[in-house]
Amino acid sequence: MSAAIIDGKAFAATVREKVAVHVARLKQDHGIIPGLAVVLVGEDPASQVYVRNKGKQTLEVGMNSYEHKLDVSTSQEALLALIDQLNNDPAVHGILCQLPLPDHINEDLVINSIAPHKDVDGFHISNVGLLGTGQKSMVPCTPLGCLMMLRDHYEKKGESLSGKNAVVIGRSNIVGKPMANLLLKDSCTVTIAHSRTKEIEALCRGADIVVAAVGRAEMVTGDWIADGATVIDVGINRIEALEKGLKEDGSVKMKLVGDVDFASASQKAGAITPVPGGVGPMTIACLLANTVTACCRDNGLEEPEGLTA
Ligand code: GUN
Repeated sequence: MSAAIIDGKAFAATVREKVAVHVARLKQDHGIIPGLAVVLVGEDPASQVYVRNKGKQTLEVGMNSYEHKLDVSTSQEALLALIDQLNNDPAVHGILCQLPLPDHINEDLVINSIAPHKDVDGFHISNVGLLGTGQKSMVPCTPLGCLMMLRDHYEKKGESLSGKNAVVIGRSNIVGKPMANLLLKDSCTVTIAHSRTKEIEALCRGADIVVAAVGRAEMVTGDWIADGATVIDVGINRIEALEKGLKEDGSVKMKLVGDVDFASASQKAGAITPVPGGVGPMTIACLLANTVTACCRDNGLEEPEGLTA
């Protein structure tokens, strides 16, 4: 069997389109423009790329983008002062502080200093608690994107997530734990697997849904996957592409792969997200969705449909 491809790039475009329509309506009917502030401390190259893409896509959907690029030596106090200023700025509806932060800054302290209703990452302890108790919260972007794709996939088959056996591989605060909570909220039977889990292959073989978010290149192979299962690959790993030969300067070419071995898993799965072009594009689309949601909540307006958990 060869799996259907869940096209995250195309799905993300539809999410951004919905966001843009809602932003236009907010402007026209209420004179409100949602604003997203992104804070970057230091010059980590991957973070710089993410922040640039976030700013670009924020403007493309008609929202205001506020970028704050701080020197790597910025003190924790100065960063907290900036967040306090953004918390109190009525033009800012969403605040994202790009992680990781430099070692001299306490990440938890910074995350928990963001006003919960502006915490578009959904990392603040209040939002974690609200999600964990099934209450309305801001939801972390990557798991929200995975949930949207899963709901859409099953809806198209005339099914829902209710009663499905889901295994989430990875227990991070950013993906694994919130993903498990979201699937539980949609009435899946959820198991979180991690590096110490016994017989992880057999566990996965019993799953209707496998979400891989461990950060280990191509760890999940086809023999872990039940016939017809749905596989969501959150991993983004850069590995050597020896099959592509060498670059002109003699160095080895690189390629992006997920946590799932696509070649073998796609022979067993019913549907699978590719890397790249699967979960990746959904993360920023969901950040934009969260910002418009935060803006609506802040103004006591109806939330956009289909953009929240
Ligand atoms: N760094 C890697 N992923 C993320 C994310 O989802 N949010 C933030 N703030 N930083 C990140």
